[in-house]
Amino acid sequence: MATNEATIVLANILNRHSVRAFEPGALAEEDLQTLLRAGEAAPSAGGLKSRNLIPVTHPEDLEFIIRYIFSARIRQQRERFKNVSCILLICANITSATAKYRRGRLYALQDATLAGQNVLLMAHALGICACWIGQIRERKIVQKFNLGKEYKLVGLIALGRQPATPND
Ligand SMILES: Cc1cc2nc3c(=O)[nH]c(=O)nc-3n(C[C@H](O)[C@H](O)[C@H](O)COP(=O)(O)O)c2cc1C
Repeated sequence: MATNEATIVLANILNRHSVRAFEPGALAEEDLQTLLRAGEAAPSAGGLKSRNLIPVTHPEDLEFIIRYIFSARIRQQRERFKNVSCILLICANITSATAKYRRGRLYALQDATLAGQNVLLMAHALGICACWIGQIRERKIVQKFNLGKEYKLVGLIALGRQPATPND
């Protein structure tokens, strides 16, 4: 029989869904720190934590990133990611993992992705809306934020406040 904790965790997993338009406003600093802590707690190959989650919150930087998210659907829906409060750059540290493992590149990608999933679930539990974004012009974002050669930008997570009317 499922314990209370199992029921709560399963409900959080089942109810999480992607949200792509938000209410304006910043996330509480405490919530952002909790999201990063949840990411930090994800498993990693050899405990190396071969990943880095970089929060971007400056409005001009957010606007820049949104310009370099692409897909046919997004081009049709200019409102997508409107009012986003924070975007996390989900980076795999390839150098760290390959220094120890032959399959290190793959491990670093897994480390980063697992951390991202923790963030998505934590966000849902906190009532913060979120969406994983994979369709990006990677080079533009890497250059803008000066990501070192050791990093592979795996994806982004858009985070924002719950809109008054639900959307996806
Ligand atoms: C690898 C990956 C890439 C994704 N890329 C995008 C994206 O570029 N833009 C977007 O709006 N959603 C993106 N998503 C979110 C998916 O569209 C979404 O998770 C899927 O439709 C299922 O919906 P749900 O998250 O509400 O369960 C991505 C998800 C994953 C896992």
